[in-house]
Amino acid sequence: MNEPMDESLESDAATPLVRLRGVFKSYGSGALTAEVLKGVDLDLVQGEFAVIFGPSGCGKTTLLNIIGALDAPTSGSVLVDGHELSRMSRAELTEFRRGKVGFVFQSYNLIPTLTAVENVEAALELLPFSSRREMRGRAVDYLRRVGLGARGGAFPDHLSGGEQQRVAIARALAKQPLLVLADEPTGNLDEAMGMRILDLMRELNAAGATFVVVSHNPRVAERADRLVRLSDGKIAGASRDGGDGARPRPGHRGAVPSAPDRRREPEIRHGDGAPPAGDGSDEKADP
Ligand SMILES: Nc1ncnc2c1ncn2[C@@H]1O[C@H](COP(=O)(O)OP(=O)(O)O)[C@@H](O)[C@H]1O
Ligand SMILES: [Mg+2]
Repeated sequence: MNEPMDESLESDAATPLVRLRGVFKSYGSGALTAEVLKGVDLDLVQGEFAVIFGPSGCGKTTLLNIIGALDAPTSGSVLVDGHELSRMSRAELTEFRRGKVGFVFQSYNLIPTLTAVENVEAALELLPFSSRREMRGRAVDYLRRVGLGARGGAFPDHLSGGEQQRVAIARALAKQPLLVLADEPTGNLDEAMGMRILDLMRELNAAGATFVVVSHNPRVAERADRLVRLSDGKIAGASRDGGDGARPRPGHRGAVPSAPDRRREPEIRHGDGAPPAGDGSDEKADP
């Protein structure tokens, strides 16, 4: 059984990119109140590739929405890149989301009246491109990277679910954000395409982007630096992976425990913290 992560493990690190403390979230009111998050504490170091898993309905999407400032917690503190989100104005939050966060939505959220390439471009509008043409070039490049180079002119309703998912991934990654929040990004992809997308994400991660990926896919979990299990509204287990899927990067605390301060870190290897294969928690089953 994974041990809960010791907070002091992070105490010598620079301020983490994401720090959640005592985050509660409930929906509804009175007798109908549903408490989804019940005191989440979580630190994510810059450059980390973290995978969050847990059963359907346990609050993974809620948690990502809170980290990405798309939703506010009922109580608790959310610090991202040194900013307490609850103290930011609406305009600042919009700027933060547009400038720093790439969001891959579980339900894609493509704009139906825009083509695939226009959907990707819509995320690039605030970036300092020298020309419209350069911006188009970036959008096309990312569509190509997700295997949709020839489908840029298609509207979302002419694309399959998996193709729409890949447009959503291209849109989130094309602006090369500081933080990528991806909600079951391989849920509608076949195995080979899922691995191609994972390679692309790890490539951008190696270039410095921090990733928080919600996934049930053991192949995705296998390649995380860190597995975070959400259970009963809390973080039930977090581990840093010591296997080949992780390598030290600048700003990253390193994948292999070696420094004395890491002695108490639970040594959890591939698989230990991953959802058991064949437990029925297939990503596709999660609406
Ligand atoms: N806007 C909402 N209003 C009411 N209940 C919600 C809302 N969003 C999510 N929930 C409930 O919160 C729980 C967690 O949902 P979610 O974060 O989507 O879980 P997951 O992504 O892990 O499947 C579920 O029981 C869901 O029904
Ligand atoms: Mg979800």
